[in-house]
Amino acid sequence: MTEQSTLHDTRVAYDAIASLYAELFSNVLETLPMERALLAAFAELVQTHDAGPVADIGCGPGHITAHMNALGPATFGIDLSSAMIALARQAHPNLQFDEGSMTALNLADGTLGGIIAFYSVIHTPPQQLPAVFTEFERVLAPGGHLMLGFFAGDNPVPQEFDHKVTLAYRWSPDSLADLLRQAGFAEVARLQREPRTGERFQQASLLARKKP
Ligand SMILES: C[S@@+](CC[C@H](N)C(=O)[O-])C[C@H]1O[C@@H](n2cnc3c(N)ncnc32)[C@H](O)[C@@H]1O
Repeated sequence: MTEQSTLHDTRVAYDAIASLYAELFSNVLETLPMERALLAAFAELVQTHDAGPVADIGCGPGHITAHMNALGPATFGIDLSSAMIALARQAHPNLQFDEGSMTALNLADGTLGGIIAFYSVIHTPPQQLPAVFTEFERVLAPGGHLMLGFFAGDNPVPQEFDHKVTLAYRWSPDSLADLLRQAGFAEVARLQREPRTGERFQQASLLARKKP
């Protein structure tokens, strides 16, 4: 599958379900105390380092963008799906949301203090993910922080699965942390938790820092 066909399929799939997604997930953080704790730690690290704003990449309807912005760091959202961007702008008119792809960010080198990619790199085919992490590393300031959320598994080889929206991959936290290391990041912390009712897989988050 080429990068362009993956992006096309992902965009079409999320455009089609954007309203339903917003209905189902815009308040999901209220039910995720552990993820909220890691997001709070991320916000504090970004503010202490004070190297620029946070981009929530693959922001969907913007609920995590707004949550992060309320914690302190100036935060804006980017998403491939124009329908998601329209919903995010409608729900959070005080924040900036732009259409764009994590594969080629319209951002200058070294300008971000942080990146959140919460369940948004899950659709990137594994062979294309190193280039995405290199792009994240390019736009982060030295010492900038990155937080990833993803579906976890034990297999060191990423496993394709039938995600409800479009094809997705789950990763072992060790394998994803290795890829981050190869792209110039140092791991800071990780969270791996058991599935809640209605979730099929363990869920994980990785917090990493761009090496100076
Ligand atoms: C599962 S949703 C997650 C949305 C939000 N981050 C959350 O946690 O609820 C995945 C989002 O990533 C976006 N996405 C997928 N691939 C992307 C890419 N290459 N660049 C930017 N956004 C992308 C999709 O359009 C979708 O809105």
